[in-house]
Amino acid sequence: MRMLFITFIVLLSGSVYGAQKPSTIDPDASCTTSECHTNVTKGKPKVHGAVEGGLCTMCHEPKGKQHSFAPVKGNAELCGKCHDAVDKGPKIHPPLQDGCLECHDPHSSNVKGLLKADNQKTLCFGCHDSEIMGGKFTHGPADVGACTECHNPHSSTEDKFLKAPSKELCIKCHADFGEQLAGLSHQHEPAKGNCTACHNPHSGPSPKMLPAAGNEMCAKCHEEVVKKANEFTVKHPPVVGENGCVGCHSPHGSNNPAMLKGTPKDVCLGCHNSSMKSHSKDIKTLLGKNTDWHGPVRDGNCPGCHQPHGSNNFRLLKSPYPEKFYSAFDMENYALCFTCHEPTLVTEQYTKTLTGFRDGDRNLHYLHVNKQERGRTCRSCHEVHASQHPRHIRDTVPYGSWDMPITFEKTENGGSCQPGCHGGKAYDRKSAVGEKK
Ligand code: HEC
Ligand code: HEC
Ligand code: HEC
Ligand code: HEC
Ligand code: HEC
Ligand code: HEC
Ligand code: HEC
Ligand code: HEC
Ligand code: HEC
Ligand code: HEC
Ligand code: HEC
Ligand code: HEC
Ligand code: HEC
Repeated sequence: MRMLFITFIVLLSGSVYGAQKPSTIDPDASCTTSECHTNVTKGKPKVHGAVEGGLCTMCHEPKGKQHSFAPVKGNAELCGKCHDAVDKGPKIHPPLQDGCLECHDPHSSNVKGLLKADNQKTLCFGCHDSEIMGGKFTHGPADVGACTECHNPHSSTEDKFLKAPSKELCIKCHADFGEQLAGLSHQHEPAKGNCTACHNPHSGPSPKMLPAAGNEMCAKCHEEVVKKANEFTVKHPPVVGENGCVGCHSPHGSNNPAMLKGTPKDVCLGCHNSSMKSHSKDIKTLLGKNTDWHGPVRDGNCPGCHQPHGSNNFRLLKSPYPEKFYSAFDMENYALCFTCHEPTLVTEQYTKTLTGFRDGDRNLHYLHVNKQERGRTCRSCHEVHASQHPRHIRDTVPYGSWDMPITFEKTENGGSCQPGCHGGKAYDRKSAVGEKK
């Protein structure tokens, strides 16, 4: 600072200018003539209004009539003669303590705002660490040095001298985005107020100026979900994969519960369709071909049976269900079906009410399923997602490499089938057919 004032006095003494310094001030003469103070604007195109108006003495106070001036402090007091105060606070940018000349030239500049530097980036990074722009993915306005679109260079009511609270600041420019977000029924908690909970405002190592990619980003707050997804014995590839959480969830919000990108069914079928190159069945085509949908499928509730993030049960099932075609009966293995259906379906050997699959009072569910040896799992007769037949009875059963036909026919009081397991059999609830074929 002191150096500046010394230079200033030397310069004001006129020795660097061609003309001799006059000893008194001529009130009718201008300070800037062809000989005197010709260079005060240093040829820079943006000239301060006060200089342009020849108001030199508003800032350079003469000592009486002598051509001698009091040292000039480019501070709030001086500038405040003509400008509204810029240091109203309550949070004041520290360089203002040293006045205004850290950033402004009092006479002229190459750029708007009488800045000393040729752009804001150079100005601000003269004092700040430019590392904030070091990320591979940069934010347009910060990259072009429009720092003051977001920061007030003087003072603010907000932290970091922001011109508005975080979200308001962002949707000032991202107006469409803001409108869209406001209309969503399920908004993500952090997106309600604080966009910078996820996005760096200046630059970031990942696309969209995110501080991390994929699940790592979400793990900052949902560590438990991510940890569990990686620990399940049956992992769901999209959850633990590169794209991760945002393959199914919108990071900001949506009109679906859990901020899903669509209804659960649409989200699942978005991948589980014919374009899926994997061993998994094409569920979308299956549902298209088979019009009789199982209750929860009809309700679009795939998560009613599958855990989308992963599971310790095969096929991501929520609860145990036998994996093999035959299975020794154990109630616990059928927990999946019996979260919604009455277990008495398979536990009572005789019944006149508990199931329609009976011959007289002989429970044929019990007969087929409730066995220690070669107990038939539900899949041997039912298609769990959808089928063409009442009660979701299947057309065929995969038996090793053979698609074994079942040939089920429903009758008024029972039905019949002719599977590869045994010859044709029938059952009738009113007048039992008995063991005979
Ligand atoms: C808005 C206030 C203001 C006005 C108006 C102003 N000056 Fe200055 N001037 C300053 C300040 C502040 C400094 C000190 C600059 C520094 O310390 O870097 C200064 C410095 C100077 C200097 C010395 C060094 C330099 O930067 O050239 C001269 C000469 C000068 N002014 C002449 C003039 C003349 C002539 C006018 C009118 C045409 C004028 N000033 C108008 C504020 C002003
Ligand atoms: C004598 C009155 C006066 C004083 C004192 C004064 N200014 Fe100005 N200033 C003006 C006028 C006039 C303008 C032009 C106004 C306009 O363009 O709207 C201006 C404009 C500016 C601008 C805007 C330039 C632009 O490109 O947008 C800045 C920045 C500025 N002054 C800074 C300062 C600083 C810093 C000080 C103190 C060192 C100061 N002024 C002192 C009169 C003054
Ligand atoms: C840390 C740097 C810095 C300091 C210190 C600083 N300014 Fe500024 N000032 C700026 C920047 C940057 C702009 C915006 C230029 C633009 O919008 O292009 C600006 C703009 C202005 C303007 C134009 C109108 C406006 O508010 O945008 C005025 C007037 C002004 N400053 C006055 C002052 C005064 C008076 C002081 C001292 C009390 C001061 N400045 C101190 C950086 C600073
Ligand atoms: C003359 C030096 C200087 C210049 C130029 C300067 N600053 Fe600062 N700024 C400081 C100091 C000192 C602090 C307080 C220490 C700190 O937090 O880094 C600060 C604080 C800040 C902070 C708050 C930092 C925090 O972590 O709380 C922001 C934001 C900021 N400045 C933005 C800017 C912007 C934008 C510009 C350019 C328009 C700018 N600064 C130009 C010196 C400067
Ligand atoms: C799009 C708005 C926006 C732009 C443009 C912008 N910033 Fe920021 N800046 C912010 C926000 C928001 C924060 C606060 C971040 C937080 O709290 O996590 C911030 C924080 C800062 C900080 C404090 C350190 C930090 O990382 O928290 C500095 C210094 C800073 N900005 C300087 C600059 C500079 C210099 C520029 C221009 C090159 C600039 N900013 C452009 C929005 C912006
Ligand atoms: C001054 C206007 C402005 C402000 C304020 C602003 N942005 Fe931006 N933002 C832009 C522009 C311009 C782009 C580049 C758009 C493009 O490339 O299509 C952009 C791009 C982005 C992108 C990348 C978009 C994409 O499709 O790649 C994200 C994310 C973003 N901004 C988030 C934010 C956040 C968060 C904030 C608040 C901290 C914010 N923006 C504030 C102007 C702004
Ligand atoms: C929970 C973290 C998180 C929060 C909070 C967040 N975003 Fe994002 N944002 C993301 C992710 C992740 C993406 C990339 C989405 C993708 O790749 O599908 C993104 C993308 C964007 C994009 C690019 C366009 C788009 O829709 O993909 C913009 C613009 C954007 N965010 C702005 C904002 C604004 C504004 C806010 C505050 C209202 C905000 N974000 C809050 C995580 C977040
Ligand atoms: C800054 C912390 C933060 C980050 C980062 C974050 N979330 Fe959240 N998230 C929350 C909070 C807080 C809630 C609401 C409380 C809760 O359900 O735990 C929430 C809730 C959710 C919900 C449940 C919403 C509902 O309606 O049930 C989902 C889904 C979600 N986040 C997904 C994500 C995804 C995907 C990401 C990564 C793009 C992410 N979150 C990143 C804080 C965060
Ligand atoms: C394959 C699609 C998919 C992916 C990928 C996915 N989710 Fe989910 N997520 C869902 C579904 C569907 C629900 C709703 C579950 C329900 O209704 O029972 C959900 C629910 C949630 C919830 C609400 C609370 C809960 O557990 O039910 C949170 C939080 C959540 N997910 C976070 C995440 C995070 C974090 C990631 C990334 C590690 C992620 N999700 C990846 C489909 C997905
Ligand atoms: C982003 C794409 C994507 C979405 C969305 C998706 N999945 Fe998957 N899913 C996969 C991939 C890839 C596999 C692995 C397929 C394979 O290896 O055959 C898979 C496997 C499965 C498996 C078999 C797991 C096993 O190892 O036995 C089930 C069951 C499953 N998904 C159900 C669902 C359900 C339910 C939803 C909706 C909540 C869903 N998926 C959403 C991509 C997706
Ligand atoms: C009533 C429970 C239930 C519902 C609801 C359900 N599933 Fe399944 N899903 C299963 C069972 C059980 C299996 C294992 C089938 C087997 O091995 O017999 C399975 C298997 C799968 C598989 C693996 C197929 C293969 O290759 O074997 C996918 C993919 C799948 N389901 C997706 C979905 C989708 C998408 C939805 C929603 C439209 C859905 N499921 C609804 C119970 C259900
Ligand atoms: C999330 C609850 C849920 C689970 C789990 C579930 N179901 Fe269902 N199931 C239903 C609903 C709801 C219906 C439809 C009842 C109706 O239409 O009245 C239904 C209907 C059926 C029907 C046809 C009944 C009829 O009256 O047409 C069969 C067969 C069936 N389920 C078998 C199974 C099997 C086998 C499992 C286990 C692999 C299973 N369900 C798991 C909810 C479930
Ligand atoms: C051997 C073939 C077979 C097996 C194995 C089988 N079902 Fe059935 N199931 C049927 C037939 C046939 C009907 C239709 C009865 C009728 O309405 O005539 C039926 C009907 C049902 C119904 C409709 C309500 C009722 O009881 O009439 C449900 C629910 C059901 N089964 C669930 C299951 C579950 C859960 C399993 C596995 C634990 C299972 N089934 C195993 C053949 C079988």
